[in-house]
Amino acid sequence: MTRLSIKKIIAEDIIDTDATVKGWIRSVRNSKKFSFIVLNDGSSQNNLQIIVDEVLPNYAEVAALLSGSAVSITGRLVKGGGKIPQIEMQGKVVEIIGKTDESYPLQKKATSLEFLREQAHLRIRTNTFGAIMRVRHHMAMATHKFFSDKGFFYLNSPIISGVDAEGAGEMFTISTLSSDITKAPKTKDGKLDFSRDYFGKETFLAVTGQLEGECYAMGLGSIYTFGPTFRSENSNTTRHLSEFWMIEPEVAFADLDEIAELATDYIKYLISYALEHASNELEFLYNREDATVDKNHMETLKHVRDSKFIRVTYTEALEILAKVDPAVKKFEYPTTWGSELQTEHERYLAEVHFKMPVIVTDYPKEFKAFYMKLNPDGKTVRAMDILVPGIGEIIGGSQREDSLEKLEKRMDEMGMDKEPLWWYLDLRRYGSVPHAGFGLGFERALMYVTGMGNIRDVIPFPRTPKNCDF
Ligand code: 4AD
Ligand code: MG
Repeated sequence: MTRLSIKKIIAEDIIDTDATVKGWIRSVRNSKKFSFIVLNDGSSQNNLQIIVDEVLPNYAEVAALLSGSAVSITGRLVKGGGKIPQIEMQGKVVEIIGKTDESYPLQKKATSLEFLREQAHLRIRTNTFGAIMRVRHHMAMATHKFFSDKGFFYLNSPIISGVDAEGAGEMFTISTLSSDITKAPKTKDGKLDFSRDYFGKETFLAVTGQLEGECYAMGLGSIYTFGPTFRSENSNTTRHLSEFWMIEPEVAFADLDEIAELATDYIKYLISYALEHASNELEFLYNREDATVDKNHMETLKHVRDSKFIRVTYTEALEILAKVDPAVKKFEYPTTWGSELQTEHERYLAEVHFKMPVIVTDYPKEFKAFYMKLNPDGKTVRAMDILVPGIGEIIGGSQREDSLEKLEKRMDEMGMDKEPLWWYLDLRRYGSVPHAGFGLGFERALMYVTGMGNIRDVIPFPRTPKNCDF
């Protein structure tokens, strides 16, 4: 018998034919002579209802199955009764593949997101996580399609890194030995233990793929990375992960304006693609009881997709924030020129003031990375952050300093050791061109589109300061 996915059955309206479906039972409801099995196979948001009756040889065993059990069911697909007739199956053969028992953690109907975080290995079997992870898949596909269609090349930047590429000191250390090999850890038989020491070198997990991306943009023209990045910042918030995925395009001969436009187009494309490929999933997520966005989030996203993104400078943003009446909103952190924009400020700007994603440019150089191009004012850099309602920053980017002299001067001012970045400086030594790029936090973009309120719920296995159990 042909095995069909539930997605295909519903999408192609397949009826009046026999088929086999395989999946996990969501629920079993028994009446006197019948049992109604609700089955999900992961292929889509749709469940299939299967009716089995007592003539089934193993009826008693089937009727006693608990949710979470895996089955293969063969039967006839028919249009069911009801106001909106849905496809259902009249089960003829039920093969029990994997049973479950009362200890199965996902028994209860309403399982909180907190509880499910402790069940990271099982939570994909809920409607909520099925929906989120399918959206995640589509947004990853959208990313590749968007950049590839524009002629960008996909670059795999390294994960093991020898430098602090953001200069922010937020790297996880793989090995600390930078000079004294004699102090390296040894194995039992006295040999150097390279599993705990990267061949005598100091190494880290990459905080970004940007610097390597810049190297490749200087030959391929336009590239993008899409990979895991790691940050050791001890931020236990709903929008920080220790391991998150980042998409980083880098474009030779581009300036900040071009990259701001690229970022806007990319966000809009992600929204369109998700709406086109996963609207059932999004609809389901926005209508959850504990959803953190309103039921109209789809309309909000469509509006964003069709609107121009507002652009302000950091200085203008600060003027807006400084004018906010403390009786309306009292900020915890200062809003004076030179202070960093905190999440509360970012959210106020996007959520309350503009009610739209907003691009903030030209930040003071003091709290931005060493590689950003200095503006003629000598105080600000050609940086941009894109802030969205509900989250704050989802993109950080900049035009890069392409003058060797200015870059070296900035690194000296910041007290950076230039030696490990000799190769990066070479890019400015040989055939240097203006170039720019940005990084989109994939999970933050997912939070924005799915409306999920906690970043831990949009990545399969979240790594946070206190969680790396599985
Ligand atoms: O602003 P960031 O630090 O910029 C860079 O890493 C640059 N190298 C990007 C570039 O120009 N190529 O990080 C970029 C984005 C942020 O806007 C945010 O969305 C996300 O990465 N991000 C995090 N997401 C989850 N957890 C964290 N701890 C994050 N840190 C940054
Ligand atoms: Mg940033």
